[in-house]
Amino acid sequence: MSNDVNQSRRRFLTATTAVVGGAGAAAAAVPFVASMSPSARARAAGAPVEADISKLEAGRRVTFKWRGKPVWIVNRTDKMLADMKTLEGTLADPNSEAPQQPEYTQNGTRSIKDKYLVLVGLCTHLGCSPQFRPEVAAEDLGADWKGGFFCPCHGSKFDLAGRVYAGVPAPTNMVIPPHYYIDDNTILIGEDGGNA
Ligand code: FES
Repeated sequence: MSNDVNQSRRRFLTATTAVVGGAGAAAAAVPFVASMSPSARARAAGAPVEADISKLEAGRRVTFKWRGKPVWIVNRTDKMLADMKTLEGTLADPNSEAPQQPEYTQNGTRSIKDKYLVLVGLCTHLGCSPQFRPEVAAEDLGADWKGGFFCPCHGSKFDLAGRVYAGVPAPTNMVIPPHYYIDDNTILIGEDGGNA
């Protein structure tokens, strides 16, 4: 019995020490960041961001932050990619002729790998963050809605490649940031790698 007590007290002390150690480490990190020179801070703010997509399920979106902006990565299903092709007549710039993307993503899916969309999550009208609306024929978006992004500020609509629909306030497709694949599960957002 007393052995049990000692055991559990030892476990408690070990856990407490670990927590104190964690807090101490965090406290030590703060002065380090504060002591960065302004140019080092600026470099850190503009630094590329490594995105792990290994757990991103088909049909889902994940958000990363790069240069203070949301960057979305969507794992598009075959059905989503097929539906996108049916939209071309309803889009303002279906071939992505406006320079809203790096050259290596100026293609039918606006991507390096068809499956993965990498997109700055800001509306090209006045900069609101659109909603991810992947559901086909969503009640509030109409029977012909094939999934995409809807901006609640003034009603702009984009497809699942960030291409803007014709006749909405947003003037251009959404922006694709520079990026490349470090490996199958990791994208570096903010640099072209060997793609440029
Ligand atoms: S900011 Fe998106 S429609 Fe105006």
